[in-house]
Amino acid sequence: MPDVIAYGGDWNPEQWPEETWEQDVALMREAGVNRVSAGIFSWSMLEPVEAVFEFGWFDRVMDLLAANGIQANLATPTASPPPWFADAYPEALPVDADGRRLSHGSRQGFCPSSPIYREKALRIAEQVATRYREHPALAMWHVHNEYGCHNARCFCDTSAAAFRAWLRTHYASLDALNDAWGTAFWSQRYSDWAQILPPRATPSFPNPGQQLDFRRFSSDALVELYTSERDLLRKITPDVPVTTNLMAGAHWDMDCWAFAAELDVVSTDHYLIGARSEPHIDLAFAADYARSLNGGRPWLLMEHSTSAVNWQPRNLAKAPGELRRNSLQHLARGADGIMFFQWRASRAGAEKWHSAMLPHAGPDTKIFREVVALGAELAGLAEVAGSTVKADVAILLDHSSVWAQDHPAQPTSDLDPVEEAKRWHAALWRVGVTCDLAHPEGDLTGYRLVLVPALYLVSDAGAANLEGFVRRGGVALVGPYSGIVDEHDRVRLGGYPGAWRDLLGVSVEEFFPLDGPIRLESGATASVWSEVAHVNGAKVLDTYVTGEPAWTRNEQGDGAAHYLTTRLDDDALAEVMAAVCAEAGAKPAAQAAPGVEVVRRSHADGRSFLFAINHTEEDAVVTTPAGQKVTVPAGDARVIPG
Ligand code: GLA
Repeated sequence: MPDVIAYGGDWNPEQWPEETWEQDVALMREAGVNRVSAGIFSWSMLEPVEAVFEFGWFDRVMDLLAANGIQANLATPTASPPPWFADAYPEALPVDADGRRLSHGSRQGFCPSSPIYREKALRIAEQVATRYREHPALAMWHVHNEYGCHNARCFCDTSAAAFRAWLRTHYASLDALNDAWGTAFWSQRYSDWAQILPPRATPSFPNPGQQLDFRRFSSDALVELYTSERDLLRKITPDVPVTTNLMAGAHWDMDCWAFAAELDVVSTDHYLIGARSEPHIDLAFAADYARSLNGGRPWLLMEHSTSAVNWQPRNLAKAPGELRRNSLQHLARGADGIMFFQWRASRAGAEKWHSAMLPHAGPDTKIFREVVALGAELAGLAEVAGSTVKADVAILLDHSSVWAQDHPAQPTSDLDPVEEAKRWHAALWRVGVTCDLAHPEGDLTGYRLVLVPALYLVSDAGAANLEGFVRRGGVALVGPYSGIVDEHDRVRLGGYPGAWRDLLGVSVEEFFPLDGPIRLESGATASVWSEVAHVNGAKVLDTYVTGEPAWTRNEQGDGAAHYLTTRLDDDALAEVMAAVCAEAGAKPAAQAAPGVEVVRRSHADGRSFLFAINHTEEDAVVTTPAGQKVTVPAGDARVIPG
């Protein structure tokens, strides 16, 4: 990673006449841009006809960058195969669950398991890499673009064969697969591997094990596509870091933990969702997730928007100052690069209504002025680069669990595991307690408090990991419908939650999903979920009005595990969170009024920066742990050294 904050965006000069390029780089310099992502959607211009390559124009792009001291995240343009590809190899186009083969005409028009796609993608990637291996502008490889954004699961015959091959490597025998998928149910027992299909449209609910394994297979297929490009690039340029932009916290089709393990540095994209009431808290979740995926090391924000996007029902423009606050949020949470989609707003094409660093109206605009100001501010914050964020709290998050709970036949459709994780994260955000995300089987050393908002599926190893954390002195808070099934989505028997009955000192006999709000004995309100639990050693801290346990605490080894048998409303959840944070000794980064975000980044040598970002319309005072009081005006932010 650089010793400055990388700043810039996707540059797509092929959309513009060449005369524009000089103006582009001049304005980039004015804005303090030191990094662009280039070539992402250039395949049809670099290889206009199969095996005919035209690099002259792109040489000039790269040379212009180098001449202006701007570095490139150079893309392999494999996210958007040209029309000639679909024309010559229609069998490589993706097929949906209804058996519909999609046409070219947008992007990501390929089946992730297609050998012919892979061959052509590796060929163009090799061409790009060998041509620019020693180019002075090359700083990093940007492989593909948002793997699986549009084609995460393909149901074609090629995918079916690849799925069967994947299953054979994961299950020693067909008997083992039949057992894992519970195929005795509904007469689904397989007598030949050839009978197994992707979960295509079928009269009723698909088999849950089949559906879950297909999602795992599909995610693995994308990771494998990435690693095939990465390995090629590493051979050609062993010293150039390789990444691909994830969509951490937004798209759940790819297992980000698996992807992150293969990246030299995690990069991710984040866009505010206008329909959310506090989208900046969602941003904080995504940023914390990106940092956690990179093992706590600085990461790169590859894309966000300067203002409106173009793919929501109502694309809200950012208010003055919002672009800066959003960028500083990512920086506060560990990003060493703040990049946008895209540099210059498109004149034509499907994203012409997406904001950019340089709007249609040109540089004399609110957006460009904010872009220039942000560039200067980030240059002044170069010392922040390389510092890290330490969290005392972690939320367990696993894609397999999200995918398993996505099966339509659940006790209720109102309990969304991702929304629960975000809600628990938001409860900590509101009090300034920094929080990581962790894989259930990941290393929990160093955390004081581990939260398990909704981890329906957990492996034996994951279950033991949490238990070990508590026994060694940690505090855990487990939410309802967690630890329910094994890694094949089979119920853990003998009383829920089978994974953690002993840890929690509780055994649940039956679920009672709710169709309205309820009030607990303490006065706290809850909704969506309730259950009849019997305590077996745990202390009851709150009950339903019927007297049954709603909140329990069980001491185990040197630590304690709390359990909620219902989905508490935000205020009640905040109170429980305050109690478990106090018990674990998890403290806020600073004292601040509601709506003021506080996070600290620190260097190993002790230099640190407290970020205080005021998302409210009132001036606020932030009190640092050392007692320093700093006023942060409404909508403004301060980076307080020390
Ligand atoms: C994603 C893509 C970009 C662009 C933006 C629009 O992040 O990577 O190419 O489509 O979305 O928001």
